[in-house]
Amino acid sequence: MNLLRLLQQRFAPVLADYADDPAPFVAMVRPAQDTRFGDFQANCAMPLAKRHGLNPKELAAKIAEKVHVQDLCREIEIAGPGFINLTLRDDLITTEVNKLLQDDRLGVEAANPPRKIVIDFSSPNVAKPMHVGHLRSSVIGDSLCRTLRFLGHEVTSDNHIGDWGTQFGMIIYGYKNFLDKDAYGRHPVAELARLYRLVNRLSDFIDARSGLPEKRRELETKERELAAAPVPPKNSKDPADKDAEKALKRLRSEIDGLKDEIGSLSKKIERVESNAEELALANAHPAIAKAAREETAKLHAGDATNLALWNEFMPACLAALQGVYDRLGIKFDLTLGESWFNPMLPGVVDELLTNGMAVESDGAICVFIPGFKAPFIIRKADGAYTYATTDLATIRYRVSELKADTILYVVDTRQGDHFELLFETVKKWGIAKVDLRHVNFGTVMGKDRRPYKTRDGDTVGLESLLDEAVIEARAIIDANEAQKSDKGEEALDDAARQEVSEIIGIGGIKYADLHHARESDYVFDWEKMLAKEGDTATYIQYAYARTKGILRRNQIDPQTLLDQGARIVLSHAAERSLALQLLKFPEALDSVCTDYRPNQLTQYVFETANSFSTFYDNCPIKGEADEALRHSRCLLAELTSRVLKQALSLLGIQTVERM
Ligand code: ARG
Repeated sequence: MNLLRLLQQRFAPVLADYADDPAPFVAMVRPAQDTRFGDFQANCAMPLAKRHGLNPKELAAKIAEKVHVQDLCREIEIAGPGFINLTLRDDLITTEVNKLLQDDRLGVEAANPPRKIVIDFSSPNVAKPMHVGHLRSSVIGDSLCRTLRFLGHEVTSDNHIGDWGTQFGMIIYGYKNFLDKDAYGRHPVAELARLYRLVNRLSDFIDARSGLPEKRRELETKERELAAAPVPPKNSKDPADKDAEKALKRLRSEIDGLKDEIGSLSKKIERVESNAEELALANAHPAIAKAAREETAKLHAGDATNLALWNEFMPACLAALQGVYDRLGIKFDLTLGESWFNPMLPGVVDELLTNGMAVESDGAICVFIPGFKAPFIIRKADGAYTYATTDLATIRYRVSELKADTILYVVDTRQGDHFELLFETVKKWGIAKVDLRHVNFGTVMGKDRRPYKTRDGDTVGLESLLDEAVIEARAIIDANEAQKSDKGEEALDDAARQEVSEIIGIGGIKYADLHHARESDYVFDWEKMLAKEGDTATYIQYAYARTKGILRRNQIDPQTLLDQGARIVLSHAAERSLALQLLKFPEALDSVCTDYRPNQLTQYVFETANSFSTFYDNCPIKGEADEALRHSRCLLAELTSRVLKQALSLLGIQTVERM
């Protein structure tokens, strides 16, 4: 049962007397902010009173009188300027929490009707090593898949890999010119990654070397301009001075921007100049960037050699990706990459030309959408199809073949413009009614608040990140075990410690990612991530292990207790709040789905672990003389354990029985 939804349903007919569309007011029935005043609160009286020119307190009283909740609430109270505070009946909580003990779905009803949802996530560009940036899409997307599926929706997870892009031109060029055959034989993907990085470095170097003098001149000009500009008096109200102040500010920020750019170009130059071998390669391949682009063009045109190479590279690349997914516990129903849609691209362009949506502009085929500065380019002047064309073909496929009614794109915020144009184009195209959502997310930052990089300025590889997480977790487990053996408790052997470390390390990374509001950038911080106290996976995994410990130490089998007729009773405020918290699991899942936010679920598990901890501190089990109460508390621990495990599993996080 979803208590919040039930209360909202009770308010709906009453609020309908005051608004044609009561939905937004019904949504103001919410969990209480401050539980001292009740379990739920309804804040709808104030805005409704304003609308009708009524006294909010009187209206609140009238609503409270009319709403039928006597069977659910023991108290309905008006407070402050017109808040309606609701306190549930203890017998209701007791009945419902005992029902949960018998319910595999922990009170979560199946969605009716279920939707057909495609979730496009992870979607890395292959043949480049996966990096920390791919973590967010993979982890958020996986959690949404698990949650929506648990709610009964028909979910297809689709890894829209970039397997047809310009990186292949670079790798093919590298393969043809710089291949280390032995290395390739030993570890093909590592060698391809090396080639990719090498070609990238060389062409960046050549571009930087030719572009740097111009940037330096620009900087000099701007600096001269700044030196010559008159400085207006401080805090002047004169509009002319204000404009001058603005212009100065702009100039300074342009100068900062140029300095940054020059710094990054210089780094690209130094990187190669400091390596005699690479410098010789760069000088021997001055047109490397153009040549790599030509290799891509040849691949796309069906050149036999390049196509054969592509076919040779792909299986190894896919296997490497699979290794990461296995470790993360992520499964895809489909992996339809860009190459798969390639044959459909000419058809898409033709169709949009025929229906008049696309037009030629400077040789390129574009869709212009009113209100957008840039057009959506679906074929470039050189005939190449684009990321945009592929996404259009992909949507058509998902709608017509997979019958999707909803498509979620779990992709970096920085691709926001692309998705806005894409969605508008699809709306105009009118291929079907489909709900398209860009489930965007921010950047993973280093402690310097810049995108997280290694010391050499490379992006951080995902595999090494996972390895490090496990090493960090192992140190924590070892320290913990050392403490334990001091207290004479049973120790974990080496194999068990390693298994626990993998679960804690990877769980820690995932949770740290999921518990931030997805749009925000966050700072990657091992210490915070694996802390035993606070909003971390480790804390929650400990709480889970503790629930298991209670049952183990008391030698209790929950099923036997239930068969003997034991039930949960509420004798203490901490038991009541834990029971109510457990009953809120369906609400938490609802709020994840409202706007596709897994952090709503991490918040719920954190609150549940906190509520359990208060219960654990206040409600003794072993020392409790009353057997019925002892059993009741064991059952509450059992239920907490099941809810935590289920919730964590929807986040893609595993649990261990002992740690
Ligand atoms: N491969 C793209 C990248 O790495 C992400 C693809 C996202 N999905 C999509 N249908 N556009 O930036």
